Amino acid sequence: MSKSLNLVLLLAGLCVSAPAQAQDADAGQKIFKKCKACHAVGDGARNKVGPHLNGIFGRVAGGGADYKYSKAMVQAGDDGLIWDVDTLAAYLEKPKAYIKGTKMSFAGLRKDKDVANVTAYLQSFSMTSSKPEAEPSGSSQSSDEVVAVATTEPVSQLMRATHGQYHLGRIALPEEILAWDIDVRPDGMGLPDGRGNVARGGELYDEQCAVCHGAFGEGEGRWPVLAGGQGTLKDERPEKTIGSYWPYLSTVFDYVHRAMPFGNAQSLSNDDVYALTAYLLYLNDIVSDEEFELSKENFNAIRLPNEGNFVADSRPDELHYTAQIEPCMQDCKPQPAEVIMRARVLDVTPQGQEGETTGAIE
Ligand code: HEC
Ligand code: HEC
Repeated sequence: MSKSLNLVLLLAGLCVSAPAQAQDADAGQKIFKKCKACHAVGDGARNKVGPHLNGIFGRVAGGGADYKYSKAMVQAGDDGLIWDVDTLAAYLEKPKAYIKGTKMSFAGLRKDKDVANVTAYLQSFSMTSSKPEAEPSGSSQSSDEVVAVATTEPVSQLMRATHGQYHLGRIALPEEILAWDIDVRPDGMGLPDGRGNVARGGELYDEQCAVCHGAFGEGEGRWPVLAGGQGTLKDERPEKTIGSYWPYLSTVFDYVHRAMPFGNAQSLSNDDVYALTAYLLYLNDIVSDEEFELSKENFNAIRLPNEGNFVADSRPDELHYTAQIEPCMQDCKPQPAEVIMRARVLDVTPQGQEGETTGAIE
């Protein structure tokens, strides 16, 4: 995760810093004479004593193809070092101090200005396009990040697995992280922008959910029941629904957003999920107004009836944990074990007819 965050920051930084430093690239070309004995850069550059430096910006340290780096450089890359304005400056000032054990036999550039200029020069071989707006911006939530990605070559460099011993995997793209990062927490953290009301949710529900969950959330066949069951939790066969059992509304939002409709998961827009969540509140008699609109703004004000029966996990405070006693694994009970309940009774999945399999554990 931290590598990819670096990437985001780095790419964002590139856009901002590129124009300011571009003027110094000519001066940098002169400084680069000091590097030329070992490094090539530009059209047709190949590895020499040192690796070629095309596309060095945004590349993982030790990430050039077909070049045998020192262990120290490979390790630095594994530890997350990515070349950017700052890391290159630090390296070029005192290579051996910045990466102990690097095999680059170069004392370092003493003047900050020389470092900045040669870095600007190298940067000009790391950019593929100066017109980011010409690139499609994709469907990501943050257009800044997408533009930054489209601007530079490093991403394509990172697509290639060049790090580590086995060259497996690559750094996740910012868009990929955004796509994965959809969890919503009980305090509302992670909720996307959006809104939707009960009436709209009802339309969506009839179209996309009722086939399985029933017109009123009562569940068709053996599909899960989504409403009702209040007051049944102590029954032999409790009916656990959003209204009777679930502690937090965030779970409803997260679950529907992530997993429903079954078989076509993540096809719903954020507004659709707000509307459906509002409708599920309505089906569970938690709201009664069809015009009720749920949004990111009022989400936290809604409480589910059973929240109070959930307790925070206090295990770290328990005596056993604070005393760090090894858990008992053998002969822990003085008397023989006694069966007090059977899975058949505990189980909440409806039982099938004689001979029909239900998948329930008995
Ligand atoms: C005497 C040869 C030599 C000189 C001079 C030299 N380098 Fe290097 N450079 C190397 C070698 C060898 C490596 C590989 C280091 C390793 O694997 O530890 C390297 C590595 C690098 C890297 C890291 C590359 C990567 O893919 O991770 C950069 C960036 C770099 N040099 C830039 C420069 C610049 C800029 C200059 C001039 C200011 C310069 N070097 C001068 C030999 C040299
Ligand atoms: C094709 C059948 C099907 C459709 C259509 C469907 N679901 Fe589901 N739903 C399921 C199944 C199966 C589960 C249980 C999945 C599991 O436990 O792994 C489920 C579980 C749920 C749950 C959690 C219930 C619980 O108490 O565990 C919610 C909430 C839910 N669905 C909402 C929706 C919404 C909203 C829609 C419409 C956008 C929808 N579902 C469409 C089959 C469906």
